[in-house]
Amino acid sequence: MKHLLPWSPDLTPLMLAPMQGLTNRALRDLFVKWVRPDVVFTEFIRVRPGSKKPFSAVDRLEAASQDEQVPLVVQLIGRDVAGLSASARAAREEGAVHLNINLGCPYGRMSRESAGGALLKDPTGLVERLLAVREQAEASFSVKVRSGYDHPEQIFSLLPVFDQCGVDFLIIHPRTVTQKFGGWADHAISKRLVEATSLPVIVNGDLNTAETGQAVLAQTGGAGLMFGRGAIADPLLFQRMRGLAPAEPDQRGRAEELQFYLVELLERYRLIFQGERQVLDKLKTVMTMMRGDQFFSREIKKMLRVDQIETLQTILLGLH
Ligand SMILES: Cc1cc2nc3c(=O)[nH]c(=O)nc-3n(C[C@H](O)[C@H](O)[C@H](O)COP(=O)(O)O)c2cc1C
Repeated sequence: MKHLLPWSPDLTPLMLAPMQGLTNRALRDLFVKWVRPDVVFTEFIRVRPGSKKPFSAVDRLEAASQDEQVPLVVQLIGRDVAGLSASARAAREEGAVHLNINLGCPYGRMSRESAGGALLKDPTGLVERLLAVREQAEASFSVKVRSGYDHPEQIFSLLPVFDQCGVDFLIIHPRTVTQKFGGWADHAISKRLVEATSLPVIVNGDLNTAETGQAVLAQTGGAGLMFGRGAIADPLLFQRMRGLAPAEPDQRGRAEELQFYLVELLERYRLIFQGERQVLDKLKTVMTMMRGDQFFSREIKKMLRVDQIETLQTILLGLH
């Protein structure tokens, strides 16, 4: 059976990574309208084993696609087979046609039922779980996977599992689960993975500038790239990759980018989050990714310390 990918075959898609606490529907809406990633993902949606309502009201809003032109992939995290199946069905009821399963999250808190990256510890059990989600996906079914649980070569032994389960494409973040976010993504593994499988491989990890993105694309021969923290810090990275914005910002351009970005995000966050405190905290989660900014790291750290949105806006609008 041939499944539909969320991008057309003539495109090298640039995707916005799923990021818990960041890529909610408000942020995705801004990215889609402004810098047009080719594919966007929900934050992971937790499976609730045994629950009569697999999706909360918020999950339902998050899973509903916002823009016909930019496909949304709904990502699930969980271990319980019936729960995965029920959540995948709930996603489909919200109109989701592209489903993804998280095989990478390293944190115990998220994986108290040993989900996410922990599923790599049991490749046999993985089959059942992947098939449960595959069955529900109307178009593509993908996995976002680390290079291994604690061994960076494990990914190669998982390829037959992905084939057997009808996975349509892989997203590789080439760190092990136990490595968490330490060290660097090893794109020599990404390159070998591209060579070892006929499935399209989307390459992810530490692609923080257009130059790095282009170099890793050339090095690995990946079918596309996925940007996480780098894109949250610098949304124009998508346009830089396409040559539609300067490869690197200058100070003035960066000030304008930040002002537009954070003002637009603030407006959207006020619509979906309750109260100034929550809106401010959510905005700060985004700004945490900008601490190392090449022009404004001092001002960003100052904004991270304010306790009023108004004070943040004053500093923001003073950037030049
Ligand atoms: C705050 C944060 C939240 C994340 N949430 C998710 C998630 O919900 N699902 C997922 O598959 N990966 C998640 N990730 C991993 C990213 O999608 C990505 O694989 C990783 O950050 C490496 O890419 P990058 O270097 O471009 O950020 C998260 C990462 C961070 C830092």
